[in-house]
Order: sequence, then structure tokens, then C-alpha cells
Amino acid sequence: MEVTFRIRRYNPEEPGKNKPYWQEFTLKDVKETDRVLELLHRVKWEQDGTLGFRRSCSHGICGSDAMRINGRNALACKLLIRSCGPKVQVEPILGLPVLKDLIVDMEPFFAHYRSVMPFFVNNDPVPADGRERLQDAEEQQIINDTTNCILCACCTTSCPSFWANGEYVGPAAMVQAHRFIFDTRDQASQERIAVLAEPDGVWRCRTIFNCTPACPRGIEVTRAIGEVKLAIMRGTREGIINPKDIKVHG
Ligand code: FES
Repeated sequence: MEVTFRIRRYNPEEPGKNKPYWQEFTLKDVKETDRVLELLHRVKWEQDGTLGFRRSCSHGICGSDAMRINGRNALACKLLIRSCGPKVQVEPILGLPVLKDLIVDMEPFFAHYRSVMPFFVNNDPVPADGRERLQDAEEQQIINDTTNCILCACCTTSCPSFWANGEYVGPAAMVQAHRFIFDTRDQASQERIAVLAEPDGVWRCRTIFNCTPACPRGIEVTRAIGEVKLAIMRGTREGIINPKDIKVHG
């Protein structure tokens, strides 16, 4: 089949082309099972070597090739051309500054990520027997979904609340916070809750649900945000100190 790519281009260093514009490329002999990333490579290698986009693993693991494809956020390496049809429009993810073509500045996204302390905190001595800090299966299940995040930014950059206000921490940071807030071995939940209870935290989420279908890992993002909201509300109303004491699952 023949496929036409319509790609949003931008190069601040190119004379006369330092404003965004659309450019079309036609590819022949495309198979339905080709992935969008493979075809972007064909455009770059066969037609225009200046096309800029990020990619690394090509297997939906590194999260570097998030882009807006036919109006929806996706990983180019996971999306088959049979899901797109013969016309494919590709543009950078929204809400982050564009550096070149499909490459955005991820620093504002990672600043929000860092703000929720996305690391394990436990100041107790390591168990004397030298074993890991253990959880039972039920405790692990609470955070199982949110441990799958690959930080591709598909969720955050599909969120109208984030488009309207870049100070909003965004869905991905809250997924990361959820992963540690509800980890029964972690001791910094209160610090994370304090960050997310601020005006640019969870309450900027309007439950629009764009984030959940945008996630290439199938994480129930809106549900995770709702659980963080519930933890904050119940913690405030009932004077519960540790959100792990709050039953929001099951
Ligand atoms: S290239 Fe790594 S997730 Fe797509």
C-alpha cells in the first residue's frame, strides 16, 4: 500500500523555516504491519535526513518516541500502520516546548516528576537477615499498575489541564507518586501528599480521562489520580496520618 505522512516540521536554526509548517512524504510498498517508527525511519533515510525525532529501544520500553499520531498520543514504535490508514499525520506531543520537528523539551515534564520524590524512602536499618524489604502479594497488587510507567509523557501531554497550565504536575507525576505513596515499605508518603495537595497538584485534574487511553502501558491513570485524591481527602477529613491506612482499594 501507499502511505502519505503529513509531518509537523520546525527548525529554529533553518533560515526562512523557523516557524512550524507541514510537510508531506509519500512512501510506497508499505505493509499493514509496519510500525509508524519504521516508516519515519524510511522518510529520514530515503527522503529527508534532516527530520528530527527521538527513539531508542523500538519496543515500547524506553518511552522516547511519544508523538501525536492522527490526533492521539502514542508510541511510534508500537503503532501499526493498519491502525492509522493511508494518511498519517504526525506532530510533537502538546504542552511542551518544541526543539526541532518532533522533538520536545522534556525538562518541564521531568521537573514535575522530580517534585513528587519518585524514589523509595525507608530509613529503617536493613533487615538483619540481609533479605529484601518484603511485601505480601496483596500489598504489591496495590502498586502493580503504576509501577509500569515508562515516563513517555503520553498521559501528561494529552491532558487539557496541562495544556492550559504547565505548572500543573500532570498525570505522569501523579502515577509515580501513587507508586510510592501506596508502597507499604516507603516512609515519605506525607511529603508527596503535601506536594500533591498544593494548588498545582491533584486538584487541577478535572477527570477528563484523556490520560488513560493515551497510556501505551495500559495504566489506569485516572483511577490512580482518583486514589491519590481520595487519600488526601480522607486523610484531611478523618485526621488519618498515613495514607496507607486508608482503604481505597478493594
Ligand atoms: S523507541 Fe523506545 S518506547 Fe518506542
